[in-house]
Amino acid sequence: MKSLSQYVQIQNQRKQKTLARFFIAFVLVALILLAASCVPATDAPLLSPKLGAALAQLDKGEEIVAEPTPIPLLIKTLTPEQIMAGVPADVAGLKGDPAKGPTLALAHGCKGCHSLDPNANPKPTGPTWFQLGDTAANMVPGQSPGLYIYTSITNPSAFVVPDYPDNIMPKTFGTDLSKQDLADLVAYILSQHQ
Ligand code: HEC
Repeated sequence: MKSLSQYVQIQNQRKQKTLARFFIAFVLVALILLAASCVPATDAPLLSPKLGAALAQLDKGEEIVAEPTPIPLLIKTLTPEQIMAGVPADVAGLKGDPAKGPTLALAHGCKGCHSLDPNANPKPTGPTWFQLGDTAANMVPGQSPGLYIYTSITNPSAFVVPDYPDNIMPKTFGTDLSKQDLADLVAYILSQHQ
């Protein structure tokens, strides 16, 4: 005959076992749910949303054309006429001598604000003249590099270079410099290219 206390003890052990089973079952269900949530959704786009369209195009035997990246214009690909297009005849008609450029740039103070070294330190007040011939061919759409440089010198406010201040470069060079000096300076700056 079991005593009452033994009976209570057996009952308690049974309860604990049942609880333990419930707990294990709960953990198993939780693990299964967790595993299920890790399976990738089959309807979610895994790759570029454009891939389907591109593959369909290929399927039909069509060519896929990527949009071209605009290539900056280099002035070595232009003819002398294209380079000087639009420059007033009284300057364009003269033969500019690039060799005179450095002396003129020094004499007229350009050097104080412009450097050929793009990494000059301290940073000059004006934009670098490093490869400015090529840059000039891409600055103002439809403007030849020669006209861009001529205008930059004679009328600096006509186009203000981004990130640089307006009204700093003297506006008097158009009248102070002779036509030959202008032609030489334009030729010199145009000669800075790849
Ligand atoms: C007091 C400073 C200063 C002097 C002197 C100066 N410039 Fe400038 N220049 C600037 C600044 C600032 C800019 C940019 C703002 C603008 O577009 O007007 C500039 C722009 C230019 C540009 C356009 C550059 C580009 O990256 O598109 C040219 C070309 C130029 N200058 C030529 C000259 C020549 C040639 C002289 C001398 C005859 C001269 N500058 C003298 C300050 C100066």
